[in-house]
Amino acid sequence: MKVIRTKNYQEMSKMAAEFILNKINSSSKLTLGLATGGTPVQTYHYLAQDYREHQTSYQHVTTFNLDEYIGLAKSDPNSYHYYMDKHFFSKVNIPTNQTFIPNGLAENLEMECYEYDELIKKHHGIDLQILGLGKNGHVGFNEPGTAFDQHTHIVELTNSTIQANARFFNDINQVPKRAITMGIGSIMESKEILLLVSGTEKNEALNKLLHGEIDEQFPASILNQHENVTIIADEDAIINTNL
Ligand code: F6R
Repeated sequence: MKVIRTKNYQEMSKMAAEFILNKINSSSKLTLGLATGGTPVQTYHYLAQDYREHQTSYQHVTTFNLDEYIGLAKSDPNSYHYYMDKHFFSKVNIPTNQTFIPNGLAENLEMECYEYDELIKKHHGIDLQILGLGKNGHVGFNEPGTAFDQHTHIVELTNSTIQANARFFNDINQVPKRAITMGIGSIMESKEILLLVSGTEKNEALNKLLHGEIDEQFPASILNQHENVTIIADEDAIINTNL
């Protein structure tokens, strides 16, 4: 894994946006895997800024988001559909029918998972997957203990993830208890992975990722077995990691 060190969150985000833009500009067709959460917000902001200033086109880009809560409507401000629209899709010229996010309101959720994987396959897999890192090592909503070979599936969120995500809701009881997520298997099939890590609260997780064992109890550890991973991390996340 290649680690790029940045001074702070802003610089991490700028570098991540440049990394993504580089792929967009050098490909005639690109399938991007996208993450939500706090970490990539500023990256999306820089991509939107680039669009305003340089009109980088997204007509040839297709996106697949990692996950979505079960039970939230697309119009719910806490849904990942809403987040993506607000921070990114509405700011660039990506055709709506080229943006995919699991449907957490699907009548048949198992079928939704199966079809999501089929759709990714139909697009010949993900060229570049953007990831954030959970404090307990989760990626997507793949919580500790998730089998490394799983594809898109339904998860029960752990208390630590519910608590971490409660900051986006008015009340912790409003945080959905289940989600649909691309599995570790789906993520590992991406041709390239860009992991963004920022802040002291991710310090321990980054240390474990870089120096710990590969273990299903720490899902991100499997990234050590992927041949094309770049980590962009800021100083706060890197402190005490021996880098
Ligand atoms: C988001 C996602 C999650 C987050 C992770 C870190 O789509 O899949 O795995 O990347 O929970 O979240 P933040 O960036 O809020 O610390």
